[in-house]
Amino acid sequence: MSIISSFEEYKQQYQQSIENPEEFWSQIADTFVWRKKYDSVLKWDFNKPEVKWFEGGKLNIVENCIDRHLVNKARQTAIIWESNFADEPSRHITYQELFESVNQVANMLRQQGIKKGDRVCIYLPMIPQLAFAVLACARIGAVHSVVFAGFSSGSLADRINDSGCRLILTSDGAYRADKTLDLKSIVDEALLKCPTVEKAIIYQRTKGKVTMKPNRDLWWHEVVGFQSKACEAEEMDAEDILFILYTSGSTGKPKGMVHTCAGYMVYTNYTFKTVFQYQPNQLFWCTADIGWITGHSYILYGPLSAGATTILFEGVPSWPDMGRFWHVIEKHKVNIFYTAPTAIRSLEQAPLSFVNNYDLSSLQVLGSVGEPINVEAWHWYDENIGRKNCPIVDTWWQTETGGIMISPIANVTPLKPAFATLPMPGIQPAVMSEKGAEIIENNVEGRLTIKFPWPSMARTIYGDHQRFRDTYFSTFPGMYFTGDGCKRDEDGYYRITGRVDDIIIVSGHNLGTAEIESAIDEHSSVCETAVVGFPHTIKGQGVYAFVICYEMPKEGETLRQEIREIVSKIIGPIAKPDKIQFVRGLPKTRSGKIMRRILRKIAEGEVSSLGDTTTLLDPAIVEEIKAGAL
Ligand code: WT7
Repeated sequence: MSIISSFEEYKQQYQQSIENPEEFWSQIADTFVWRKKYDSVLKWDFNKPEVKWFEGGKLNIVENCIDRHLVNKARQTAIIWESNFADEPSRHITYQELFESVNQVANMLRQQGIKKGDRVCIYLPMIPQLAFAVLACARIGAVHSVVFAGFSSGSLADRINDSGCRLILTSDGAYRADKTLDLKSIVDEALLKCPTVEKAIIYQRTKGKVTMKPNRDLWWHEVVGFQSKACEAEEMDAEDILFILYTSGSTGKPKGMVHTCAGYMVYTNYTFKTVFQYQPNQLFWCTADIGWITGHSYILYGPLSAGATTILFEGVPSWPDMGRFWHVIEKHKVNIFYTAPTAIRSLEQAPLSFVNNYDLSSLQVLGSVGEPINVEAWHWYDENIGRKNCPIVDTWWQTETGGIMISPIANVTPLKPAFATLPMPGIQPAVMSEKGAEIIENNVEGRLTIKFPWPSMARTIYGDHQRFRDTYFSTFPGMYFTGDGCKRDEDGYYRITGRVDDIIIVSGHNLGTAEIESAIDEHSSVCETAVVGFPHTIKGQGVYAFVICYEMPKEGETLRQEIREIVSKIIGPIAKPDKIQFVRGLPKTRSGKIMRRILRKIAEGEVSSLGDTTTLLDPAIVEEIKAGAL
C-alpha cells in the first residue's frame, strides 16, 4: 500500500478501502512479520457481535515492534525517556537495549509462573520500566492491564479483580511535579481486597520507605537484573487477547475493553504512519500517559512497530514552569507533537514568554486528541506552537476503537479548525438520526456510528459480552455506536460535538454542550468552560455555564452579559447561558476529562448525591463550586 501523499490519493485509497476492504487490509498486513500467514482477512457479524481479523495468522507483536528492527536499527534510539525533573539526565534507549530489557522482564515473569493468557496488572509511573513491562507481557503472551498510576486503591482493586490479575508490576513511588506519590501503599491497600494477586514486583523509583510483604513482594532489581537478555517470544493467534484497558462507562462500573493482537498491531501502525505522515528519523512525542489508550497506541505500539523514536515523558506541562513542554521540544528537537486540548488550554493561560523562550522550529506536525478542540485553542496552537507552519491533526477516536478513526492526514487533508475532518481509509462512519435512520446527505447532524469493522476495534468487554453488545451494538442494530454526536458539513467533514449524553435540549432545540463551551471560550477573558443542562420550567432545560477566567472577575455582570452576547452571536440566542458561574477550576479526572456528571448535579441543585469524587484530580474544587452555585 503506497503512502498517501496528496488529497487525491487519499480519496482514491479511501474508495479502494471501502470497495475492497479485505484486499486493502491484507496489503497492509503483509508488511509485518508473521510466524504463519492468516487464512482469512475478516469474518464478522455485528449482531452477535463477533469480529475476527486475520484468523489463522500467528505472530508476536513484540517481534514486530522490536526484533525486526534489530537488523538495521539496533543502535537507533527507540525511546527517549524524559524525567519529571528537568535537570535529571534523559535516557536514550536503543532498540537493542529495549530488546534486552524487555526480555529480562519477560524472563522474570515466566520465572514467576506467568504464562500465556494470564492477566498482569501494571501500575507504574511514566518510567522506562513501564514500557518494558508492557512489552514483556506481550512477548510472553500475558494479557497486560495497565492502570493509570493516579487511580486510587479502590479503583485499582476493582480493575485487578475484574480481570483476575495474578501479578502486579509497580514501584515504591511516583513523582508528579514537586510531589511524591506513595504508589506502594496504594497497592498494599488495594491488594488487601485482591485474592488473585500472588506476586508484586516493586521497582525503586523514589527510594521512599515501603513495607514489603513476605512471599508476595519482590524488588524489581533483585528479580530482573540477573535474567538472560534473550527470551523466546510466545507464538500468538491473531485473535488472542493482547491487553485489557479500562474505560469509564455511563454506569459506575468501568468497562475492561479487550484488544487482540494482529488487528490492533496492523491498525495502530498504519494510522501512526498515515495520520502523522511519519518519516524515518523523525522524533515523535505523544504526551499522554501509557495508562490511557493514547499511550498504548501512540507512545508504544504504533511508533515502535514503525521503528520510530518515541518520547516517554514522566513530568507535567506546568512544572517546574509553564514552559516545560516547549523546553522538551527544543531540547530533543521534536518533529511531531501530539497532545490534548486540555493541556493546550491550560498552557494558553501562561504568558507567551514561556513559549517564546524556546526554539520550536523542529516541529513539523501537531496533533490533538481526547476531546473536541475549541476553535480558539486551535488557533492558539496553530499560531504560537506551530507558527502557522505545522498542520494540526485533530484525531477523533476512543479506547474502544484502539486507533485513530477520523482525522486529517498531515499535509494532505485541507484543514478546518475544530473539525476532525474525514475518516481514515477503511473506516465507514454513518450519521444516524435519533429515530435510527442513516442520514445520507451532508450538512447534517446526528449520532456517530461506524457501520463496518476495522482491525483495531475492541472485541468485547472482559467477562461481559452482553454489556458490550448492549452498550455499542444495540442502539443502532448492526452498527457500532460511538456515543458521540457529530455534524457533517457540506464538504463531508466531520465535527465531533461531544457525547450525546451531553446534549441538552433547550426549548426543543438540540444543543451540544461542547459547542456552547467553544463559543464561550471565544471571549478573550475566558480560559475554559464547562456547560451542562439544568431543569427549566419553561424551556425544559436551561444552559448552565461554569467558566474559568484568566483573572477572576470582581464584578461579574458585565462579563456575563458579554458572554451571553458572544454565544448568541456564534450559535444563536437559543444557546445563551441562563446561568454563568465563575469558578477557579473544574472537576477533572486525572486524564483531564471534565466530570460533567458532578456539574450536572450541582446545576440541578442536587448537591447531596454527587457520587464518587475520589478519582478527581482535585476533589476540593467540588466544594468550592458547590458553595458558589447559582
Ligand atoms: C471520547 C473517547 C481517543 C483517545 C483518548 C480518549 C472524545 C476523543 C476527540 C476529538 C472530539 C474527541 C469523544 C470520544 N474525543 N478525541 N479529536 N474530538 N472528541 O479516549 O477516554 O476512550 O474517550 O473522547 O467523545 O468518544 P476515551
